[in-house]
Formats: sequence, structure tokens, C-alpha cells
Amino acid sequence: MSVLVVGGAGYIGSHTVDWLCEKNYDVVVIDNLSTGHKESLNKKAKFYEGDLRDKSFMRKVFKDETIDGVIHCAAFSIVPESMKEPLKYYDNNTYGMNVLLEIMNEFGVKFIVFSSTAATYGEPKQVPIKETDPQVPTNPYGETKLAMEKMMHWSDIAYGMKFVALRYFNVGGAKEDGSIGEDHQPETHLTPIVLQVAHGTRDELTIFGDDYDTPDGTNVRDYVHVLDLAEAHRLALEYLLSGNESNAFNLGSSTGFSNLQIVQAAREVTGKDIPTKIGDRRPGDPSTLIADSTKARTILNWNPQYDDVKKIIKDAWTWETKNPQGYSDK
Ligand code: UFG
Repeated sequence: MSVLVVGGAGYIGSHTVDWLCEKNYDVVVIDNLSTGHKESLNKKAKFYEGDLRDKSFMRKVFKDETIDGVIHCAAFSIVPESMKEPLKYYDNNTYGMNVLLEIMNEFGVKFIVFSSTAATYGEPKQVPIKETDPQVPTNPYGETKLAMEKMMHWSDIAYGMKFVALRYFNVGGAKEDGSIGEDHQPETHLTPIVLQVAHGTRDELTIFGDDYDTPDGTNVRDYVHVLDLAEAHRLALEYLLSGNESNAFNLGSSTGFSNLQIVQAAREVTGKDIPTKIGDRRPGDPSTLIADSTKARTILNWNPQYDDVKKIIKDAWTWETKNPQGYSDK
């Protein structure tokens, strides 16, 4: 049995590939390396470099490999960039999904686990957010991911393709030994930026807004460890392979941390002073996102092992201190 991980050289993809290889799955990876890193790939995985929008390339991979299920992690995922370049997101994310589903259908591959996101909910009416709550994205990134969920839904109805949408909240951390981790160029996410400031590779952190309707005025987010996500992908795949219905699951800790609380936790973990200043709000940012992950815990039997924001920061710190320039240090 082979699992195809599309986008397997990205941050979440590479940790998932690594975990599946450790669990002795046969793993095939497709990545165009536009944001992914070849160095992040577990050596046991078979790697095809190419773009999922390239149908002849995709056909070749599906012809050469016996694929039982697909994990789809290939997408652009930067909220502020999506506000400036929405069509880039529709092309890579939405059209990419179109091609993937078309090729899967052509080759009779019926199972797909998809990296969806809390950004599909937009500004929630209530927290913690449940899977049944309205999905009204506030940015093009979230819109494309919601469209991708719908494409899988209609492909299920038309072609019997079963899917699991994993709606991640804010992902952080790294493999505990610091051998793989988060490396985006440029980096826009809060926890890696905070740790770059702690490490001295950046001078200071700008916190985007302190006038939100939250306890300290800064945005509140729900952090989940990338290793817990990797296991969630494996569980979702097994759920589908066992013949279950299509479904969507929130993946988070059910606890919110404000941006200021994250900085404080990072000061405690690293022992470093982390200079900050308050800047303007960043367009497209919802004020508070906290997951209700009860459904994943009960139906998928997801049991996060690293459900602690300091552990997330500690593992990201190990990666940061070992690889201050990311994969170009390797
Ligand atoms: N932030 C700062 N300063 C920075 C960077 C970020 O204050 O330099 C703030 C943001 O404004 C936000 C919080 O830190 O309030 C988290 O921002 P990130 O960019 O780290 O993450 P997002 O919440 O924007 O988005 C992430 C993923 C999405 C996912 C979303 C769900 O990138 O894929 O979490 O919560 F959908």
C-alpha cells in the first residue's frame, strides 16, 4: 500500500511524511519545491519533483505507483499574501485541487485527506468553534480552502470519492531532535518570528494590533504541535481506508493564547529578552480562533501528545537554534 503526499516537502507535509515512514507506510511524495525543501524529506520516501497542476506529470506518477490514498498538503497558505495576490491562491490551491481530483478519479483512487484550515470559518460568532459552525472566510486563502472542501464534497457525491478535511488551527513546533522544522521564505508566522527575534536573527517583533476585543487586545489563536498533526493525518487516512464516510475535523488544543501570551511563553522557554512593538492591524486577521476538537478526539481517536504551548515553542526553538538559516544550513 502506498500513500501519496502531495506537498510532502513543506512544513506540515514533511513532518507527516517522516511520521508515516517511521510507521512503515510506503510513501510517495510530489512537490514542486516552490516553498518546500528537498532536505526535509525522509530518505525512505520516493520523491517526484513536479507541479500538481501539470496533468501529464501527475498521470505519470499515478501510472508508475500504486496509490491507495492521497494526503493533500500542497497549497499556498499565507493570509496577508493572499489578500494581495488572490488569483495566485485560486490558481495554485483551487485549480491544483481540480487537477488532483480529476487524476484521482481517472485512476480510481478514492481516498483523500486534505489540509484545510481554521481560516475557512472567518470571524467566528462563538468560540470554541465546532465543525458545524458557519464557514465565512475573511481572506482569499480561507476562501480557496473552503472551495477545495466543496470540490471534494461534490466529487464524493458524483464519483464516490471519500475525503477527510482536517481544519488545522495554528500549527507550530518541529520534530523533537530539530532535524526538520518550519522554514518559510519569507517567514510570516508568529512563533518562528518570535524565535528569530529571541535568537537575534531579527531585531524585534511587530505585534499586529492591540485593539481587538480580546482580554489583552491582541489576537487569540489556538496552537497545535506539528507532530500531533502528523498523527492526525495518519488516523484520518486509516479512517477512510476502513470504509468510513467523508468528514471534517477541527485540530487544535481548545485553548486560546493571545499574541502577547505567546511572546511571554517564548521569553520563559528561551530565557531571552524579545523586543516587541505594537503595529497596525494586519488585514484579514480574525480576532479569536479557538477549536473545539472533541469530534477528532472521539471519532478519529486523536489523542494529542504535545498539547502544550511551551512544548511547541521549545521544539521550534531547538530547530531554530540548530538551523538559524533554515534548510540552507543543511
Ligand atoms: N502576528 C504578529 N506579528 C507577526 C506575525 C504574526 O502580530 O510578525 C500575529 C498575527 O496578526 C496573528 C497571529 O500573530 O494575530 C498569528 O499569525 P500567523 O501569521 O502566525 O498565523 P495566522 O493566524 O494568520 O494563520 C495561521 C495559518 C493559517 C491558518 C490559521 C488558522 O497560516 O493557515 O493560522 O488560525 F488558517
